[in-house]
Amino acid sequence: MAQMEISSILQGGYHHPVARQWQSRQLTKSMFIYPLFITDDPNASEVIASFPGQKRWGVNRLEEFVGPLVRKGLKSVMLFGVPTKCNKDGRGTPADDPEGPVILAIKRLRTLFPDLYIACDVCLCEYTSHGHCGVLREDGTIIVPESVARIAEVAVSYARAGAHCVAPSDMMDGRIRSIKLALMEAGYENRCSLMSYAAKFSSAMYGPFREAAGSAPAFGDRKCYQLPAHSRGLARRAILRDVAEGADMIMVKPALSYLDVVADAQRLAPDHPIACYNVSGEYAMIVAGAEAGVYDLKTQAFEITGSMVRAGASIIISYFTPQFLDWLDE
Ligand code: PBG
Ligand code: ZN
Repeated sequence: MAQMEISSILQGGYHHPVARQWQSRQLTKSMFIYPLFITDDPNASEVIASFPGQKRWGVNRLEEFVGPLVRKGLKSVMLFGVPTKCNKDGRGTPADDPEGPVILAIKRLRTLFPDLYIACDVCLCEYTSHGHCGVLREDGTIIVPESVARIAEVAVSYARAGAHCVAPSDMMDGRIRSIKLALMEAGYENRCSLMSYAAKFSSAMYGPFREAAGSAPAFGDRKCYQLPAHSRGLARRAILRDVAEGADMIMVKPALSYLDVVADAQRLAPDHPIACYNVSGEYAMIVAGAEAGVYDLKTQAFEITGSMVRAGASIIISYFTPQFLDWLDE
């Protein structure tokens, strides 16, 4: 019999299910953030055509929807406002309307679930008449200082309402610094985290979200502020910049085609938690594949979500969060 090299034997290390678990960092419930769409009809529970299983919720429905999830171990949500009755304008005035859906939802969730960590997406696109993420000049280009000042104002309003974390997704240059300074000035810097969508790419995968939030741009696209899909250097520079500007956590978005960027983020910001956003189109694609009989949904959801952890993420923003709260108990 031919002599085998001892180093050729790997199977001895993973023949048992317990030994297989030791081969990787395990998903836990506390890694998950569940995105929630909050609309301004307080009693809403609206199905979204391109977004299977997700709904727009009114504040009065949060107790019955979020309560069972919290009891199963949900630790965190991220809020997105979906205003329908407001007057959208050039600077996104409704974004921090004290009677708007996000601020009302923050207050309601804080009262209902005192231990839940409430993150808020901060952007203007749901609230501007043109649907872009910043304030525009006549020619359609972004006015950076005005956009950043407005976004910082909105972030502070969410912090004042009780958000534990503000997460700007607008991609304007300098907004992390500006938000951090505004939080400091308002006295919230030590009770509100700042999660930067640092490496957010211009992607084909945001479709169901834009339907859910009514935030598709009225003209043009977001390519002058979201990162070019295949750029690597820009993503690395954005990560380093946002760390230097005071981000507490760094996010990469989308997830599936960007795991190399997650790994880059983990190396460039080894002392910051890295978040990974498995976005709406990715979620819809995974669900559609399961419905077409390509794979078992749970097995595939574990495979892809585990790959984000392997790449270096310790926070997973996922529309599969409710399922994982069940699956992780099985
Ligand atoms: C808006 C925003 C988007 C997402 C999060 N915040 C859409 C976009 O940039 O057009 C996408 C999230 C998802 O697709 O799940 N700034
Ligand atoms: Zn936006």
